[in-house]
Amino acid sequence: MPTVVQHDADLTALNSFGVPARAAHFARISDTDELQQALDFAAEQRLPLLVLGGGSNTLFLGNYHGLVLHVANRGIQWSDDSRRVTVAAGENWHDFVSLSIERGFYGLENLALIPGLVGAAPIQNIGAYGRELADVFVELEAIDLQTGKHHTLDKAACEFGYRDSLFKSDPETQWLIWSVTLQLQAKDQPDTSYAALQKVLAEQGDAQVSAKAVFATVCAIRRSKLPDPAELGNAGSFFKNPLVSADKLAALQAEHADVPHFATDSAKLVKLPAAWLIEQAGWKGKRRGQAGVHEQHALVIVNHGHATGEEIFLLAQEISASVLNKFGVALQPEVRLIHG
Ligand code: EPU
Repeated sequence: MPTVVQHDADLTALNSFGVPARAAHFARISDTDELQQALDFAAEQRLPLLVLGGGSNTLFLGNYHGLVLHVANRGIQWSDDSRRVTVAAGENWHDFVSLSIERGFYGLENLALIPGLVGAAPIQNIGAYGRELADVFVELEAIDLQTGKHHTLDKAACEFGYRDSLFKSDPETQWLIWSVTLQLQAKDQPDTSYAALQKVLAEQGDAQVSAKAVFATVCAIRRSKLPDPAELGNAGSFFKNPLVSADKLAALQAEHADVPHFATDSAKLVKLPAAWLIEQAGWKGKRRGQAGVHEQHALVIVNHGHATGEEIFLLAQEISASVLNKFGVALQPEVRLIHG
């Protein structure tokens, strides 16, 4: 048995919900040799694989019976002339964003304080305050876990969508993202077009807004309404914001004149805030045993201390059934559910 593989590992500290779960086999991967050893072991034992970064978007519904690959490679290559940067998947996302701004590599300020590791960012094309990863993305290096081969995938190949990418939807290949290359800017010209951000910046009286100011403001907004997983287990938004047709919006407006909605890239579809639907259905601040809906933000499901993954999942199911019943809108989880 290779030394990189441990058995019966505790995953409680490796998922931001803080729910109890164990992995039958577990390997912390810092370099490609360790990865190869782990892949050989999994092939020999015919084990399924689960790639785990910071565990900030994952809900374990029980113990995992296969081999968990915990990505832990490090390193950042800054190209000062071109403002391109290649960053290892195992780096912490927020620490990287913070460093990039200090170094004068601008463009990630709106994406501050998103929990998790760099390697997870492309999987759901992380986004916040009007920007998403795809806006600055150039390419990534990923490993096909069946063959062990490294591939470079450009932006088109990654098929980015709203909280979506090839890595969520590819039925053929299981990928492990190894590093990500981004094109950032020397020019300090942040995007402040997102209404909620603009409002706070205006209240602060910032006329000439710098990337550093946007970074600080985004951190402050997030801290004011999203719970810190170190204090209250959670995975940010539990559901995606649903896309509905203009006809569906009109039908909803006939009964709820004030339903908030946002335009999308498609003229036919509008985005509804799942948080609003959940709050209107009466869930904000509610508890079911140790699982609950956050008091400050209805889209965040929290672990009040000793919830199991199953308990959190049952609450999520109850919420989506009640939203479907009240509004005829189906909610899809944003969080990755691991069934064991
Ligand atoms: N709202 C409510 N009740 C609430 C909270 C919000 O009715 O308790 C309504 C308000 O109308 C508000 C609207 O929902 O205007 C949108 O709320 P917010 O600006 O907080 O954004 P969101 O749509 O809930 C999305 C992302 C967040 C990201 C924020 C800011 C998704 C699924 N979530 O949330 O991302 O930080 O926008 O850009 O797209 C995450 O993915 O984990 C995440 C936190």
